[in-house]
Amino acid sequence: MRTIAIINQKGGCGKTTTSINLAACLARMGHKCLLVDMDPQGHCAVGLAVPEEQIERTIYDALIEECDGKVASISEIVWQIASDFDLAPSNIQLAAFEQVFAGRKGREMRLARALDAVRDRYSWCIIDCPPSVGLLTFNALQACDEVIVPVETGFFSLHGLTRMLESLEVMREQCNKDIRIRVLPTQYDTRTRLAREVLAELRSKFRDYLTQSTINFNTKLKEAASFGQPITEYDPGSRGYKDFVNLARELMGHRPVEVATPGDQPLSRPAELVQRARQLQQLASVQFGRLAMSAAPPQPAAAQAVAEPQPASAAAGPDDEARAAARDHATQRKIERFYGVKQIGNELVFAARFENAREVYVAGDFNNWSTVATPMRPGEHKGEWRAALTLKPGRYRYRLVVDGRWVTDPENSYVESNQFGELNNVVEVQ
Ligand SMILES: Nc1ncnc2c1ncn2[C@@H]1O[C@H](COP(=O)(O)OP(=O)(O)OP(=O)(O)O)[C@@H](O)[C@H]1O
Ligand SMILES: [Mg+2]
Repeated sequence: MRTIAIINQKGGCGKTTTSINLAACLARMGHKCLLVDMDPQGHCAVGLAVPEEQIERTIYDALIEECDGKVASISEIVWQIASDFDLAPSNIQLAAFEQVFAGRKGREMRLARALDAVRDRYSWCIIDCPPSVGLLTFNALQACDEVIVPVETGFFSLHGLTRMLESLEVMREQCNKDIRIRVLPTQYDTRTRLAREVLAELRSKFRDYLTQSTINFNTKLKEAASFGQPITEYDPGSRGYKDFVNLARELMGHRPVEVATPGDQPLSRPAELVQRARQLQQLASVQFGRLAMSAAPPQPAAAQAVAEPQPASAAAGPDDEARAAARDHATQRKIERFYGVKQIGNELVFAARFENAREVYVAGDFNNWSTVATPMRPGEHKGEWRAALTLKPGRYRYRLVVDGRWVTDPENSYVESNQFGELNNVVEVQ
């Protein structure tokens, strides 16, 4: 388990936004991820719509000793947010931790010990820290292998960063661990001169610490938090999503992906939808493996039919059965060659490519948006998924549900927005 603590004593610099969305992106890329909230403000639960009043056990219960109350293991306190994404929540009770453990031996190792028990269960652990450098943050430092310091590219951001990094270096020495420290520029607004200057300053003064990735200012990130959703759910076509995908990729040692993002000019609604559909198509390959997208654009059906070699049996004679078999074979070949949605005869065929998926469903207004009613079956080749439905003529909206997550079909650019600010695919049956 690779453990990253998100630390900065400065409030509001983007620690929780980074923690939630980095964890969500890693999970969406198929990595089992645990998000630990070490901030008594409990903002991770708020940002992921976990109802505060229903949280009975928190990270505090996993940190305490028998003499303090009923101890819990991490697996007893986690909330499942998505199929590969668990949250160990906190609440105000955690504020007592420092006082309760004052003077106790091993007080700075409590989180490391609690996480030891789930080390084999997760690939990544992201720890959101409070805006202070006390015992809670020191516990996070003892438990982690790496630190990310989010730095808002605003007026006061550089002020205090040197001291923050000095404190971290001192704490790192006390931990006697080789912890890698990275500085992540956040809330970067390219349009303001100040932000550009701050970024240039960060690059010149903190080059050794600086991540290649920058998190731009993006209102979708703010909105996502207020809707209780990570950006992976709220708007997977947004610039904020792209930035966090690229941060996750950088941490994994991959190159950033180039995804077209809207310029500064406001787009008309149709242009925005087309833009988002394109972004989704580009990002699909990142989320579900390189082969998730076919390299060549889908061929029009007519072109495919012309190129289709005739099966030998078709020329064999007027035998009806042979002709039917040949037709089936030709149809099968056509189906095999496309991804997206297409009407073939009286069937509507859905074909998708999700390399690492375990289960894929089609949900739409034809099945009351059920996430379990219409499974896609694995195709002939690894990562291919197919389903066929017989529907009455009409206009239908649908999306795909990949390992429990809503995904807009990246191969169908006929889309419209839904009430959640996401994109539904549209298909018309003749
Ligand atoms: N890249 C961004 N674009 C737009 N808004 C952002 C961005 N990052 C953070 N915000 C907003 O800024 C505010 C503070 O962010 P966040 O809660 O992540 O900071 P924090 O460092 O965790 O704060 P605290 O120190 O209080 O825990 C939130 O309203 C959040 O939605
Ligand atoms: Mg926070």
